[in-house]
Amino acid sequence: MQKVSIHDKNFRLMIPHSEIVEIIKGVAQQLNTEYEHAPKTPLLLCTLTGALPFAAELLKHLKFDPEITTIKASSYEGTKTTGHVKITSAPTIPVDGQDILILEDIVDTGFTLEALRRELKEMGAANVRMVTMLFKPDNFHRQELLTGKMTAPEFVGKAIPNEFIVGFGLDYDEKGRALKDIYVLDE
Ligand code: IMP
Ligand code: MG
Repeated sequence: MQKVSIHDKNFRLMIPHSEIVEIIKGVAQQLNTEYEHAPKTPLLLCTLTGALPFAAELLKHLKFDPEITTIKASSYEGTKTTGHVKITSAPTIPVDGQDILILEDIVDTGFTLEALRRELKEMGAANVRMVTMLFKPDNFHRQELLTGKMTAPEFVGKAIPNEFIVGFGLDYDEKGRALKDIYVLDE
């Protein structure tokens, strides 16, 4: 499909499924280099709901056997970030003393990432690192300049321009997550 309509908006194809898989294999390679022979295996926290397809594909390519559970944080309403990040569902495996790898679909302003890092540190995590399929560096670095205290995601699949996208887990008001390709807002 070259074009899709969701709610009131039109989107055009941006990243086909085959390319998404290659991006995720690249992330897996970064993680394998870091953790295949490491003395301690990290605990993977898949952020709900958007990172589910990313996590499912990523697990197929890992050469280590991590424990994995979920966490839910929400920062978005419609197509604009609200700046308010709520942690609405805590991990079901204790994070105390663990090396945590947060799995995200996309890092935009970085507010979600910062809130999760802070919260998990407060919960006693030994170390928190971020793995994201996609990254919008323009938005992130703008916030970094403004706040002066953001840490970029440690493992990134692909940097993309500052545009609104849907598909492969990413939603526009909860729709579009099941699309196997990624689409960008067509204006
Ligand atoms: P941040 O807190 O601004 O970095 O936003 C992170 C969250 O916002 C991601 O986990 C996504 O759920 C959502 N998000 C950011 N950009 C997009 C987008 O282009 N489409 C859909 N959701 C997005
Ligand atoms: Mg998300």
